[in-house]
Amino acid sequence: MPQIEAIIAQMTLPEKAALCTGATAWTTTPVERLAVPELFVADGPHGVRRVPDAASMAIGALPATCFPTASATACSWDRTLLQRMGQALAAEAIALGVDVLLGPGVNMKRTPVCGRNFEYFSEDPYLAGELAVSLIDGIQSRGVGTSLKHYAANNQEEQRMTISAEVDQRTLREIYLPAFEAAVTRAQPWTVMCSYNRINGVYASEDRWLLTDILRDEWGFEGFVVSDWTAVHDRVAALQAGLDLEMPGPRPRRVQAVIDAVALGELAEATLDEAVRRILRIVFRAAETPKGAGFDAASHHALARQIAADSMVLLKNDGILPLAQGGRIAVIGRAARQAHFQGGGSSHINATRVDVPLDELALLAGDAQITFCAGYPEDDSSQPALIAEAVAAAQAADVALLYVALPTFKESEGYDRADLELTRHQVALIQAVTAAQPRSVVILNNGSAIAMSDWIDGAAAVLEGWMMGQAGGGAIADLLFGVVNPSGKLAETFPLRLADTPAYLNYPGEGGKVRYGEGVFIGYRGYDAREQPVLFPFGHGLSYTTFQYSAPRVSSQTFRDVDGLVVAFEVTNTGAVAGQEIAQVYVHDCAASVQRPPKELKGFAKVALQPGETQTVAIPLDFRAFAFFHPGYGRWVAEAGEFDILVGASSADLRGAVRVTLQSTAALPSLLGPMSTLSEWLEDPAGRAALEPIYQQAMAAMAASVGSDGEERAAEEAAAMVFLAQVPLVDLLEFMGDGLPAAPAALVQGLLHQVHG
Ligand code: BGC
Repeated sequence: MPQIEAIIAQMTLPEKAALCTGATAWTTTPVERLAVPELFVADGPHGVRRVPDAASMAIGALPATCFPTASATACSWDRTLLQRMGQALAAEAIALGVDVLLGPGVNMKRTPVCGRNFEYFSEDPYLAGELAVSLIDGIQSRGVGTSLKHYAANNQEEQRMTISAEVDQRTLREIYLPAFEAAVTRAQPWTVMCSYNRINGVYASEDRWLLTDILRDEWGFEGFVVSDWTAVHDRVAALQAGLDLEMPGPRPRRVQAVIDAVALGELAEATLDEAVRRILRIVFRAAETPKGAGFDAASHHALARQIAADSMVLLKNDGILPLAQGGRIAVIGRAARQAHFQGGGSSHINATRVDVPLDELALLAGDAQITFCAGYPEDDSSQPALIAEAVAAAQAADVALLYVALPTFKESEGYDRADLELTRHQVALIQAVTAAQPRSVVILNNGSAIAMSDWIDGAAAVLEGWMMGQAGGGAIADLLFGVVNPSGKLAETFPLRLADTPAYLNYPGEGGKVRYGEGVFIGYRGYDAREQPVLFPFGHGLSYTTFQYSAPRVSSQTFRDVDGLVVAFEVTNTGAVAGQEIAQVYVHDCAASVQRPPKELKGFAKVALQPGETQTVAIPLDFRAFAFFHPGYGRWVAEAGEFDILVGASSADLRGAVRVTLQSTAALPSLLGPMSTLSEWLEDPAGRAALEPIYQQAMAAMAASVGSDGEERAAEEAAAMVFLAQVPLVDLLEFMGDGLPAAPAALVQGLLHQVHG
């Protein structure tokens, strides 16, 4: 690596300003006289979208493997698989001359209607963080950078460039930031991409708290921050906030604005130098990876097929699956011919090849007689003839396979869905075919949860195929015939109705603001807390075998917050075929001083088991597994007391529990202040001790003022206490009148002095 400080010392102000703005849509500005090369970036996140001409924003790109999108890969819950996918992505980036891949995206699925959910992992920050760490590790282990995006609170496409996410600190820290935090602290992505939206009124691109205080000072981020494409509004403010590289370029006016700001003394040159330093470090790091070798498209296609098969989720199965070979199969639905394997927008990959689901099915179906009909139109029209044709085909067959894909006009980057339904025609098709042929299997391709109440009862089985990548057609066939045993489990809840979703009343916002009023209660946290029935719970997924959980235990029943503990249990394959089980560990706080979700995912493991085989799973739970972000202290706190460690096959299928007791080692200062209520004083150990003499005096006064009859008096006292407990101490003291040693405000000040030391 060249001497970066020496280079910065030789750079002119215009050269520095230019380096901090793209030269083209996909490259940084080189400085030839100082041998500073350009950096080439490309989308991301599930394939390499390398445009042939860097100056163009056109969608066309060089061929690359389209892997399943994040909403699919998340359902694999497989860290190793994500790492392997990362290594393959890096190999393709290297082959295509790409230095940094623009992904992964770790935004939370706050609402299932977000059009871009297909690019995001989960509604759960822990799961999203774990998988992001693995993917980034995989990519960066080969000398290719990543761009963790979209930082932060970019949870809807509706007004995505301007909306202000109005979200409290606790919710940000517990839900919207932890996946970024895990990725940064554990995998150090080379770059982080800021989001378009505002957070509590401030554009992410200009948010110093987000880009500097949290990202760098707290989490120790070492790379550079890049803007989402056109997310910068005030270039100088963005630099001051910690945004290093503005994309896309060229933007001569922006470069000039930076030069002028330095010249006028409005921007310290040291601030610009720091951005330059961060960019140069990555530019030279990337240059150490020689580019240009080819990649093994066939093996990457095979990997994409394995990932797709391990990511699809068998949602329902009355026993019809796996299918036997042979017989008469009616294949219905245009998605069987035209695979719907990726989403619309910036992540669109020019696939090296695409498996045709129908052809792949035929390859595994033995001597089956297969018929095909399109079933539904490409657009939103209604065409009864297509349904009549499908019904006839289904009746003439032993089994009907309905391949139904949610069309891009309903779901894509750039806009949100208006509802959770398939198209009206698709629903009518499924209803008609399942009525005519009880042996009907529905295979879905979509990027986020859909509602199924109108048709699911008629379906013998439902396979969620997601946006499955270019090899997904083969993966569907593998699963239908049992060549691969389904092992995916949902990384997001499937609700019954849109109106049940936690953010329903707070989405999409108004007046340029969207209030995250549901707080930490998104996804299963919200459904659990409101005891709301769902279609399929978070973590759900079926297999062709069965698993038994036994002997849940912990390393120590009582433990210190700083030590954490290990939970262990056995999983046994009790069925007849080999399979993989995703065992999940949730933590329930039995009593807390804030409202907490009934349970939260804090660990998981995917285990492969032969029939009859047993494996021990051991999962460490650290401080953060028990902690919440305390709004008063502004820090993570694990409160002393009891917790339940819940072991389960899904969030709703718990197979064991262990109660443990946490001992807090935190020395937390008192939060008492001039307006604290009596109950707050009494609950605070130091406050209670300081208040004790006056409190005794007050209680005696109260006792004298109420009735004399024993029982009546006790009841009155109790009622009075409930009332008085809510009154600020300073106001209560006013009522005590002359008996006080000093004026109430002064007295409270004195007590506070004792408490805070
Ligand atoms: C998207 C980013 C993407 C960028 C470059 C933006 O519109 O939000 O995710 O990386 O374009 O294509």
